Amino acid sequence: MKLSTNYLGLKLRNPIVVGASPFSDNLNSVCQLEDAGAAAVVMRSLFEEQIDLEQRALLHHTESIADSSPEATSYFPRYEEYHLSPDHYVRQLSRLKAAVAIPVIASLNGRHTGGWTDYARLLESAGADAIELNLYQLATDPDISADQVESDMVDVVRSVLTSVKIPVAVKLSPFHTALTQFAVTLDKLGTGGVVFFNRFYQPDFDIEELEVAPHLKLSDPSELLLRLRWISVVSPHLKGSIAASGGVHTSSDAIKAILAGASAVQVVSALLKHGPPVIATMLAGLQSWMSEFGYNRIDEFRGALNLKRCPDPAAFERANYIRILQSWRI
Ligand SMILES: Cc1cc2nc3c(=O)[nH]c(=O)nc-3n(C[C@H](O)[C@H](O)[C@H](O)COP(=O)(O)O)c2cc1C
Repeated sequence: MKLSTNYLGLKLRNPIVVGASPFSDNLNSVCQLEDAGAAAVVMRSLFEEQIDLEQRALLHHTESIADSSPEATSYFPRYEEYHLSPDHYVRQLSRLKAAVAIPVIASLNGRHTGGWTDYARLLESAGADAIELNLYQLATDPDISADQVESDMVDVVRSVLTSVKIPVAVKLSPFHTALTQFAVTLDKLGTGGVVFFNRFYQPDFDIEELEVAPHLKLSDPSELLLRLRWISVVSPHLKGSIAASGGVHTSSDAIKAILAGASAVQVVSALLKHGPPVIATMLAGLQSWMSEFGYNRIDEFRGALNLKRCPDPAAFERANYIRILQSWRI
């Protein structure tokens, strides 16, 4: 039985990838993850804001970020608060590449076109096997349309794609009006794949202190359902591959994502909770399920539950929605 899979044109020994997270800060952790069976590792993100800060420092503060007010700039972490400086990030990437045999995917995170995307080239030179581009943003401006938001995103993706030869994956949010069309646009531009999805950190309100309380809660498997839906819908339309990110905690979660059409799954919360051995447990579960169902390769069941053969996925979804609401009896 073979667990290997092709993700972004990279041959992975199995579909379990360590998602972007602090694990990549520590060489020992990454070696342990490789030993536990991880097929690739995505580094934590290098942020546009961080690179801009460095570039401004180099210019002795003579220029400011084009479209950010001093007030907006003050929301962001100070230079020294970032875990790795851009230089340090590139050096950490080289160290990881020297320490492990599995692919190392660097992560760039930003939302404007600009000099920061040149970092893609530096990451490629430092040995990155691929780049994951995270376009995290919240569209809050009432004057900017969905089309404008997406066309700005496409510009960022295009500028990264033209800088490098290695594959580029785009990590998207689920909140696009026409996600399938947008994913296909990225596919046609030449991205190697998409990651479904970015997980928005959701601030809560503290009603005693009357303030916004930011917090980072680890995921649980219920978050996978949104990923399954969209991977099933989008995967039949893409030449590139899809990785599920969000709510993958067990082998069953990984199997579901692959049945939906994912080539790989990214795991972070489960690893933060249980450590590297969770990967070996997931791989054992995947193997035993494949043997029970008589599958010898991942490709034999990848996409088996996607909506490829459904003539009208939107009608199918709406019909199920109506049926489920109507089934409830008091
Ligand atoms: C502590 C922590 C740090 C993270 N850092 C990044 C990051 O730098 N870049 C990024 O794209 N995602 C980052 N993520 C998001 C994860 O890559 C992943 O998409 C998310 O946690 C959902 O996957 P999970 O359900 O397996 O946790 C981070 C998540 C956690 C918990």
